[in-house]
Amino acid sequence: MKSRRLFVANWKMNRTRAEARAYATALGERLAAAPPPLPELVVAPPFTALADARDPSARWSLAGQNVAAHRQGAYTGEVSAAMLADAGCRYAIVGHSERRRLFAEGPAVLAEKLARVREAGLVPIYCLGETEEERGDGLTDAILAGQVETLSNDPPEAPLVVAYEPVWAIGTGRAATPDDAASAARTLRRLLAVGRDVRLLYGGSVTPDNGEALLEGSGMDGFLIGGASLDPNGFADIAGIPPLA
Ligand code: PGA
Repeated sequence: MKSRRLFVANWKMNRTRAEARAYATALGERLAAAPPPLPELVVAPPFTALADARDPSARWSLAGQNVAAHRQGAYTGEVSAAMLADAGCRYAIVGHSERRRLFAEGPAVLAEKLARVREAGLVPIYCLGETEEERGDGLTDAILAGQVETLSNDPPEAPLVVAYEPVWAIGTGRAATPDDAASAARTLRRLLAVGRDVRLLYGGSVTPDNGEALLEGSGMDGFLIGGASLDPNGFADIAGIPPLA
């Protein structure tokens, strides 16, 4: 059976609390007019706006954009998985390329983060993907295999979301082609344990204009969306929610 589609809005370091409330109102109005069934929707705001981005009617859930590798204690500036759960999150993003690249998060720390996420009963949205240079060197599959290794202690019976986000496609306006994404989806399905409850997302310059072709042509289960998700209507368009009359 085809799993329910999943669309995740990653706001990154954008939006105040008031803006988050306006977003939630606009998205809520759009969803209220949409015929069921709705796809699964997730919003990943900054920590400060989690409460404001919440849907009182639970038509979307919340994700933390990041999570601490430690359980609790003297880690100034960190937010634990238990705190994310307490703030109403269902998911936590782990291994986003911006965290890997700008904050030097490597496999050991990411494996710790995954463990904390599971302890707190959250579902990880584990991101991976090759750089332009790695792709040019024909290393895409090897890079993905290495990044999948980080999941080796993740419980295989637990639901998992994996987001394929080629680094060269993130925020560049240069999305992967449906064929590129399909090839990564095949590789990832082969690498991840057979029979695992895993949903695969594509991320990197998804827009309302390219979303449909990417979804149809790639065999992905949905998208992790950055820039285009900052507009609630852009996010809803990509998720295939009909426009308001
Ligand atoms: P983008 O970002 O949609 O702005 O390319 C995607 C992501 O980083 O998750």
